[in-house]
Amino acid sequence: MKTAILIGAVAGPLLASAQLHALAKDAGLLYFGTAVSPSDSNDGAYYRLSNDIKNFGQYTPDNAQKWDATEPSRGRFTYGQADSIVNRAISNKMLMRCHTLVWYSQLPGWVSSGSWTKDTMTSVMQTHISNVMGHFKGKCYAWDVVNEALEDDGTYRNNPFLKALGDSYFALSFKFAAAADPSTKLYYNDYNLEYFPVKADGAVRIAKLVQAAGVPIHGMGLQAHMTIGRTPSRENLTWTLNKYVALGLDVAYTELDVRIKNLPSNATGIQMQAKEYADIVGSCLDVPRCVGITVWGFGDAHSWIPQTFPGAGEACLFDRNSKPKPAFSSVSALLASASGKRPPWNTAASTAVAAVTKPAAATPTAA
Ligand SMILES: *[C@@H]1O[C@H](CO)[C@@H](O)[C@H](O)[C@H]1NC(C)=O
Ligand SMILES: *[C@@H]1O[C@H](CO)[C@@H](O)[C@H](O)[C@H]1NC(C)=O
Repeated sequence: MKTAILIGAVAGPLLASAQLHALAKDAGLLYFGTAVSPSDSNDGAYYRLSNDIKNFGQYTPDNAQKWDATEPSRGRFTYGQADSIVNRAISNKMLMRCHTLVWYSQLPGWVSSGSWTKDTMTSVMQTHISNVMGHFKGKCYAWDVVNEALEDDGTYRNNPFLKALGDSYFALSFKFAAAADPSTKLYYNDYNLEYFPVKADGAVRIAKLVQAAGVPIHGMGLQAHMTIGRTPSRENLTWTLNKYVALGLDVAYTELDVRIKNLPSNATGIQMQAKEYADIVGSCLDVPRCVGITVWGFGDAHSWIPQTFPGAGEACLFDRNSKPKPAFSSVSALLASASGKRPPWNTAASTAVAAVTKPAAATPTAA
C-alpha cells in the first residue's frame, strides 16, 4: 500500500502501477470495486486484473443475481453463476455488493406477466428475497434491495410491484430483506440521481417511506452511468450525495462508467473523461459517509455501453487491451493525493448511525 502511494505521488508515468483499491483504502474508503461476469475468464489479462485485490476490493455480479437468473420459474432457484462469482470474491478476500432483488427489468415472464393481488405479490416478493438472500447470507457486504424504481421526473416507475402494492412495496422489500440477512447493508440503487434533482428527490422520498415504516435502509446507491460533457461538477455531486447522508444513510457509487459519445474519441474527449472520472471519485472522498466506488466493468472490451448506446463507448478506466487510460491515472493520482486525509472506513460507526430507522423530527435538507 505504502509503495503504491509513493509511486503515485512521485511520477506521472509510474501511476499505472498504482492500484485502485489499495489507494482507495488509504484514502479512507472501504473499497474500490468492479462489476464482474463469469465470462471474464475468457480474457486472460482482464481476468488477472480483476482478481488482484490491490486493484479491486469488491465485486458486484453484473447479471448473475438478478431475478431471471436466480428464480427463472416460480419456486425454482438457481445459483450456479452467482456462486462462482461469490466464491471468487471469497477466495480473493474481497467484499461483495450483491445485486439485485426487486427490479422491473430482467424479471422472468412469470413475474412480469402474471396477474397479482396484493397478497400474492407480497408472497412472491417474500419468497424471492428470503431464498436469494438466505442463500448468500453472511457473504454480502451490501444488497441492492430495490433497483431503478423511479422515472427521470421523480415519479414511480410503473412495474408489477407498484401495480399490485402501490408505494408500500418499498418498505415491504426492505422488511423482507432485513429479516433474510440482518448483517448486510440494505440499499436503494438508481441511475441519473446525479443528473436530475427531481429524480434525486424521488429517491429521498423512497428512503423516507422505508424509514417511516420503521424498516432499516442503510444506503443510497448512485449508479453513475455518466456521459462526458454532462457530468455534474464535483461540488454538485457532493451536494447530491449529502441529500442522502442527511437521512442517516451511507452513499456509494455503484455502477460507474463515463461514456464517450460519437466515437471515435479524440484527445479532448479522453481528457474530459479523465477529469470527470476524478470529479466523481473526488465527490465520494468529500463525503465521509461515501463508502466506496464500483465501476461497471473496467475494460472497454467488456463494457455494456456499445450495445446499449450505439455510437457511444470507451467508457472504462482501461482500454480494450486492459491497458490503463488517462482516466485511470487521474483517479489513481487523486486517490493518492487523498491518502490519510480521512480515517479508515469504520463499518461499526456507520452501522450505529444507520440503525436509526425513524427519520429525525425535522429531516435536514442538504442546502
Ligand atoms: C450545479 O448546481 C447549480 C446550483 O444548483 C446549478 O445551477 C448547476 O446547473 C449545476 N451544474 C451541474 C453541472 O450540474
Ligand atoms: C473531440 O471530442 C469531443 C468530445 O467528444 C467533441 O466534442 C469534439 O467535437 C471532437 N473534436 C473533433 C475535432 O472531432
